[in-house]
Amino acid sequence: MTGAVRESKFGRVGLHAPLAKMVEPVAALQVEPESGRAAPRVPLHCAAMPASAERVFVARGLTKVYRMGDVEVHALRGVDVEIHAGELIVLLGASGSGKSTLLNILGGLDFASGGTAQFRDHDLTTADERALTRYRREHVGFVFQFYNLIPSLTALENVQLVTEIAERPMRADDALGIVGLGNRLDHFPAQLSGGEQQRVAVARAVAKRPDVLLCDEPTGALDYTTGKLVLAAIERVNRELRTTTIVITHNASIAAMAQRVLHLADGRIASEERNPTPARPEDLRW
Ligand SMILES: Nc1ncnc2c1ncn2[C@@H]1O[C@H](COP(=O)(O)OP(=O)(O)O)[C@@H](O)[C@H]1O
Ligand SMILES: [Mg+2]
Repeated sequence: MTGAVRESKFGRVGLHAPLAKMVEPVAALQVEPESGRAAPRVPLHCAAMPASAERVFVARGLTKVYRMGDVEVHALRGVDVEIHAGELIVLLGASGSGKSTLLNILGGLDFASGGTAQFRDHDLTTADERALTRYRREHVGFVFQFYNLIPSLTALENVQLVTEIAERPMRADDALGIVGLGNRLDHFPAQLSGGEQQRVAVARAVAKRPDVLLCDEPTGALDYTTGKLVLAAIERVNRELRTTTIVITHNASIAAMAQRVLHLADGRIASEERNPTPARPEDLRW
């Protein structure tokens, strides 16, 4: 593995160039054989794609009890939820309301205590550790509050760590292009701002083309401006790659970018609302 910038067939990787390789098959990006010209692109800033009715996650009566000696913590007290392909969901709730617990169970990082959780036809609640590991590897991209990049590797190499072992990855430079870091491929984490490091983490999560992108407080360690750039990168992944996306936050202003907001309180979904016209992350204010 070298740190050199690989030449892309699209030339220097910019914000838009790599998309053709990542959203195939999309008719609008196919080359017309007669003219040899690319057909018109899909409009980039149309309103959020309508999520399909295909159910990606279904949870019923999901519970989680943590036992610490004699003390039981009821982190989830019966969660019923359905999440559809292509949705951008914000999971909103106070600290301790069970957001991370729910996301970790959906992402195959933790076991439920009761109820059921399914990813398509995979039953996550009866899966063993091995099956969950495989599920995570094949289907889930995670972004956490802390970026966990490898300091001795460049941005490109950090993403290549994933693309080298994935079954149908996108190119690492394309993944960095989509988060707006096509011009930072050879930078080491210490040479990147916090927001840029988090965008490398987003690129790393999506480079294997996961079905779902699960983000736990992705802007929790960032300031306002860089936080919005990270949210813009996540929203772009959802919009252009149609990756089903769940973003945890305790910041209610961020909920405006979601197609659907799930409010978690005391281990339950207290309410949910739909945004017919989600805000662009750039336009969020807090
Ligand atoms: N590994 C754990 N062991 C014991 N208690 C836990 C563990 N993880 C979370 N909890 C508890 O479960 C509750 C929900 O936690 P969490 O899902 O992390 O909430 P949130 O992400 O909304 O802040 C909290 O009361 C928390 O202290
Ligand atoms: Mg949490």
